[in-house]
Amino acid sequence: MSPEEFVEPALIISGLCFSYPDAPNVLEDVNLKVMPGERVGLIGPNGAGKTTLFLQICGLLEPSEGQIVVLGKPVKNRDFRPEVGLVFQNPDDQLFCPSVRDDVAFGLHNMGLSKDEVEARVTEALSTVGCLELADRPVHHLSEGEKRMVSIADVLAMWPRLVIYDEPSANLDIRSRRRLIRLLQASKETMLIAAHDLELVLEVCNRVVLIDKGQIIADGNPREIMGDDRLMENHGQEKPHSLVPHSHKSNNRPTFADSDSRGVVKPQARGLNLGPSPNG
Ligand SMILES: Nc1ncnc2c1ncn2[C@@H]1O[C@H](COP(=O)(O)OP(=O)(O)OP(=O)(O)O)[C@@H](O)[C@H]1O
Ligand SMILES: [Mg+2]
Repeated sequence: MSPEEFVEPALIISGLCFSYPDAPNVLEDVNLKVMPGERVGLIGPNGAGKTTLFLQICGLLEPSEGQIVVLGKPVKNRDFRPEVGLVFQNPDDQLFCPSVRDDVAFGLHNMGLSKDEVEARVTEALSTVGCLELADRPVHHLSEGEKRMVSIADVLAMWPRLVIYDEPSANLDIRSRRRLIRLLQASKETMLIAAHDLELVLEVCNRVVLIDKGQIIADGNPREIMGDDRLMENHGQEKPHSLVPHSHKSNNRPTFADSDSRGVVKPQARGLNLGPSPNG
């Protein structure tokens, strides 16, 4: 028995199938095992089934078939599991309290924590995402990016062991996105991250699962999977820019050396072969 076999997986999904009443076979025989501390990027085209899968891992949708075990316990429909946190794709599905502070505190009250502990965790979580100054603002007045960061604080305040992020960088500006990437890189929890931001996945995840039409197509090393042009294109993806080898001229843009003394780009540099020049 290898040492790994003694460690309990953070997540085991076996034979999972799911249909909505008006959308059959949204997930088909999904099998996935995630070990503690893994950071798994879930990539795939719109409608592939990523969010649907997440809602089932969190017990918000009941599988049509199959089983999900999270941190050693089978998932039950609508069971409150503070050790599992979901950052919703749409923050409006998550935030509902009158103020930011109340929203972050909501789950903590449900956990039965003392007033002091709730306050301390709210302050800590809002500071972590850089939104402490928003604490007394109404959530419905926040910008989309602010809502995203507050919904991450909502989840982090619970100190979950498995955190599920559904498109966490959507609507974030460069600075907030970078803060998020650093936060994810420094986090020790097990993570699942669905993202169309493939560069974020490359920077954060040590494993990638490609899903299309409700089925797992590939599962493995992020650079190998996302660097495979054909695989990516076959499933509506593009190789991330940072995996494309760059040379000075790789984008075929003319360089200074391609210009003549008046700064006019030489025809050859524009890909034109005009035959020998009259001036030699
Ligand atoms: N509540 C619903 N009722 C019926 N069909 C739904 C429902 N929610 C999602 N679907 C359908 O299920 C499929 C999977 O949707 P899902 O939201 O899981 O995809 P996704 O991979 O998260 O996509 P995206 O990248 O756009 O977020 C889609 O075909 C979608 O139209
Ligand atoms: Mg989705």
